[in-house]
Amino acid sequence: MKAATIARYGSPGVIEVRDVPEPVPAPDEVLVRVHAATVNRTDCGELLHPTLVRLLTGAGRSRRSILGLDFAGTVQAVGAAAGLFKHGDRVFGMCPFRNDGAQAEYFCMPETGPIAHMPSNLRFDQAVVCEGAFYANPAIEHFALKPGHRILIYGASGAIGTAAIQLAKYRGAEVAAVVAGRHLGLARSLGADLTVDYTTDAFDQLGPSFDFVLDAVGKLGIRRWRRWLKPGGVFATTDRGPWSQNLLFLLWSRVTGNGRVVIPLPKRGSGQAFVTGLRDKIEAGRFIPVIDRRYPLAEIADAYRYVQTGEKAGVVVIDIGPEGRSAEPG
Ligand SMILES: NC(=O)c1ccc[n+]([C@@H]2O[C@H](COP(=O)([O-])OP(=O)(O)OC[C@H]3O[C@@H](n4cnc5c(N)ncnc54)[C@H](OP(=O)(O)O)[C@@H]3O)[C@@H](O)[C@H]2O)c1
Repeated sequence: MKAATIARYGSPGVIEVRDVPEPVPAPDEVLVRVHAATVNRTDCGELLHPTLVRLLTGAGRSRRSILGLDFAGTVQAVGAAAGLFKHGDRVFGMCPFRNDGAQAEYFCMPETGPIAHMPSNLRFDQAVVCEGAFYANPAIEHFALKPGHRILIYGASGAIGTAAIQLAKYRGAEVAAVVAGRHLGLARSLGADLTVDYTTDAFDQLGPSFDFVLDAVGKLGIRRWRRWLKPGGVFATTDRGPWSQNLLFLLWSRVTGNGRVVIPLPKRGSGQAFVTGLRDKIEAGRFIPVIDRRYPLAEIADAYRYVQTGEKAGVVVIDIGPEGRSAEPG
């Protein structure tokens, strides 16, 4: 099978698309034939693997040779003890880190992992949308959003930000989305009640009217989020920030017990329930995929370079086979 392989951590130049043996499912696993995958920020982080960590662990060689989290495809085979899915089922989800990833024609994963039957109203290349929602969801859950709550989502145009708008609207909250001018229309189309361009005066004039602030890109300074929060409001972020400052704020919040800063992460073992719930929201028209660019597998290194710019809106798709784009929903 064809796969995007890495032998060492490094820049996208280390990626080599080549033929490798097809994996064989363990008894509790399914073998998935991938029609579409993505390159996301999680993949970029794993590819680069911080130099300090590499030096401390001596892990210059990559732990696994194929990356890739999001996938949509069909079940090709099931392990001897697996029974939740059958040959030919259309499935989507996230490939766990313990296995080689989804940037390949085939991969294996546990059938009880983050995998579910695909939304009936999407093509494969539209269904590779789990990662952003998976990492947006813990903050939305932590806030326990409900009608009457006001949330500001900063950096609402990325994979996590576009998902956060939709998950917050799903729970009935009032959403203000802060994005670049070119993404205002996108944020509105996803349901944001107020959209603000972070390069304009309107951004500087935002006042303390929010119960929650979610920094979905890890680029927000403390002066701003403190100014926007009502007394007792809570700040969450998906990233430690350029100087790891959010970790210090988190520590301070824990030490003082004020609970004002959180960096919520998905619960272990929650993947399959999450992907199934996302499928239901998509089928109900309550969650829309946001797709930016697409690349064929042969050009996946260029996809990594683009995602590393930090400028993508939503998801960058890798077309693994011709079926991804041509197959009709359902
Ligand atoms: N907690 C976790 O486990 C976890 C998992 C995955 C990712 N992350 C982190 O979460 C962050 C977001 O991930 P993602 O996948 O959503 O990123 P992404 O899709 O790459 O987000 C990029 C978006 O952010 C916007 N943006 C860039 N700079 C901005 C700024 N200064 N202010 C406002 N918007 C800005 C960009 O648009 P413009 O350039 O046009 O503004 C672009 O649309 C990343 O830092 C990532 O490392 C955390």
